[in-house]
Amino acid sequence: MKKVITYGTYDLLHQGHINLLQRAKALGDYLIVGVTSDSFDKERGKLNVHNNVLERIEAVRRTGYADEIVIEDYVGQKIDDIQRLGVDIFAIGSDWEGYFDYLKEFCQVVYLPRTKGISSTKLRAAFQESIKIGIIGTGRIARRFVPEASSVSGARIVAVYNPDYDEAVSFASQFRLNRATDNLLSFFRGLDAVYIASPHLTHCNYIQHALMAGKHVLCEIPMVLNKNEAEQLYDLAESKGLVLLEASKTAHCPAWNHLLVLVKSGIIGDVVDVKASLSKLVCGKVRELDVLQAGGCMTELASFPLMAIVKLLGTDIKDIRFYSKLQNGVDIFTKGNIIYRQATASVTLGLGVKTEGNLVISGTSGYVLVPSPWWLTNYFEVRYEDQNQNKKYFYAYHGDGLRYELQEFLSMIFTHRLSSYRLRRKESVAIAGIIELYREGTNNTYLE
Ligand code: CTP
Repeated sequence: MKKVITYGTYDLLHQGHINLLQRAKALGDYLIVGVTSDSFDKERGKLNVHNNVLERIEAVRRTGYADEIVIEDYVGQKIDDIQRLGVDIFAIGSDWEGYFDYLKEFCQVVYLPRTKGISSTKLRAAFQESIKIGIIGTGRIARRFVPEASSVSGARIVAVYNPDYDEAVSFASQFRLNRATDNLLSFFRGLDAVYIASPHLTHCNYIQHALMAGKHVLCEIPMVLNKNEAEQLYDLAESKGLVLLEASKTAHCPAWNHLLVLVKSGIIGDVVDVKASLSKLVCGKVRELDVLQAGGCMTELASFPLMAIVKLLGTDIKDIRFYSKLQNGVDIFTKGNIIYRQATASVTLGLGVKTEGNLVISGTSGYVLVPSPWWLTNYFEVRYEDQNQNKKYFYAYHGDGLRYELQEFLSMIFTHRLSSYRLRRKESVAIAGIIELYREGTNNTYLE
């Protein structure tokens, strides 16, 4: 019996898939089809697959060509499958010509003609309505956002706003956006959603205007600098049935989310301490050091570490103390000790002091170390007393990592979900509350 194997995602099963399966089957007597798992697709950067793995398997089964279906879940599995299942022929569409020649060591490799004019990518684009997004602000993060958005299907950046008209025009021409304006009212026209990447102190006002204009909002961190404002904005969004999401990039990246579920499942026992550090040395006349623009470590850098702490330990905080070193009225170093009933946590932040930017989560049976820069999580280690039990985890982190938050934002809009489990309203409000407490100064000690 001649066994043939082929692999694919088979999203939104189409005629190209059916032709391919038919041709593959005709090469032998028994056809095995490998369907990629959801997590493997995400790891490979295929973030927009429409059908889940069960739906895709069912669609392949219904073609009637597959004698056996396996799930493909890791790089290198093809070699394992071919040997384990005694495969004679590996077949794949001609768009992969040459790419799988390395399998010739294990079986015959056949590239089959690809059906012209159809693909899952094309179908997804036609199927999915696109969300027209306008950007407020034209700084560094906005510049990273536009290319990232091109890898999220359903996202279309169409306009940019900056109170400085020339800035808006130059941004629009660099990124080929249709509209550039310094007029907020006309900016909102025709948009579904807004991404806010302007200086911190302008966020609240822009969010309010955008929500009042009926637009969903994705706002850069820190969304706002006090709890009441955060509560009011979330209330406004909810009353209007709109999505308001704080763009805490790390909260949305795959490795962080896996780390969180591993820790919550108890792999290091009860969490008793979280230490998160982040530093970025800056100097000169920059926004980060400008007291009038709410510069300083706690406003510039605290959002990611605080996100990690509230995600791991919750929002029921018993006590907080901050220790800061000031320069021209802004904190260039801050250490915050955050005390819970069951655990302690600390953030160590520096704009004028360099720290090791790692994250350590200590538990009753082991600890997790996410090496610097931990907020770009793509790798972490779980360590135990018995070092033989230690484990290292590696993940993909594509591009600048902004695509993950945007993908969640769009998914919330498409599915009318006003809350994201990755950063709940309560958690975002708690982070604003901690920053507010610091800015009030009552729990602060200043170093000489
Ligand atoms: N295939 C084909 N003809 C097409 C589309 C796909 O022969 N028009 C083949 C691929 O070469 C592969 C198999 O179908 O062997 C499964 O491919 P998959 O990646 O699932 O399909 P695509 O439509 O190419 O998906 P995407 O657009 O997401 O890359």
